[in-house]
Amino acid sequence: MKNDRESTGNGVLDGLLGGGIEQKTITQFVGEPASGKTTLCLMAAVTQLKAGETVIWIDSESFSVERFRQIAGEDAEKLANRLVLYEPVDFEQQGIMILEAERVLKAHKVGLIVMDSATALYRTELERGRDAMQALTRQMLMLLGYSKRYTMPVLITNQVYVDTRTNTYVGLGGTALEHISKAIIRLEKRAGMGERRARLVKHRSLPEGGTFDFEMSGQGITIVA
Ligand SMILES: Nc1ncnc2c1ncn2[C@@H]1O[C@H](COP(=O)(O)OP(=O)(O)OP(=O)(O)O)[C@@H](O)[C@H]1O
Ligand SMILES: [Mg+2]
Repeated sequence: MKNDRESTGNGVLDGLLGGGIEQKTITQFVGEPASGKTTLCLMAAVTQLKAGETVIWIDSESFSVERFRQIAGEDAEKLANRLVLYEPVDFEQQGIMILEAERVLKAHKVGLIVMDSATALYRTELERGRDAMQALTRQMLMLLGYSKRYTMPVLITNQVYVDTRTNTYVGLGGTALEHISKAIIRLEKRAGMGERRARLVKHRSLPEGGTFDFEMSGQGITIVA
């Protein structure tokens, strides 16, 4: 059987996911601000770019060229040529840009789509009291369709809010976003130190609960033994 996984650019993270991010599915990184969501996506994107693939990156919070440079290293300028960046300003434009991205998928060999964050603009839409959930589901289904038709993984990041009843962090987008993501990794900041913990909270072919600890670093993340 053909290997249907793509490397995240980190062997330990690949291991937590049973060998990498799965093609034809959506994998979600969820966690509080500065927990490492974008960094993990950048590492996966750079891995695909280095393998000669095109990467589509939809960024709702303005892409950090500086962080991309750090992680991509000396080939950053060259690799950036195959990074197709979309920066929607609102939730509606996010949907339009997802639609537009199919032109890129038809014309290039795309190894990965990243949507960072999938819910930042959705959050503002919610505040306006609109029926945003359906629109978010439609956007995610479109991305899922691409991943199947063009045989590649989709990575999304998801923000959290504090549930005041339980005093815990809960991912935005509710169960709809949980269902559509076939693997979910929660990133937690650990009290006191700069350390983070990655925890597998959903996977369709592995038991949940696997973890590893890491720190943020210039190259992306460094595993803490
Ligand atoms: N060069 C670096 N060396 C060490 N740590 C860094 C470096 N660059 C960024 N960081 C750290 O990485 C963290 C931010 O990581 P990242 O942007 O991946 O988080 P995030 O989960 O995407 O956050 P947000 O929800 O705000 O988008 C910050 O704590 C920052 O201090
Ligand atoms: Mg981020």
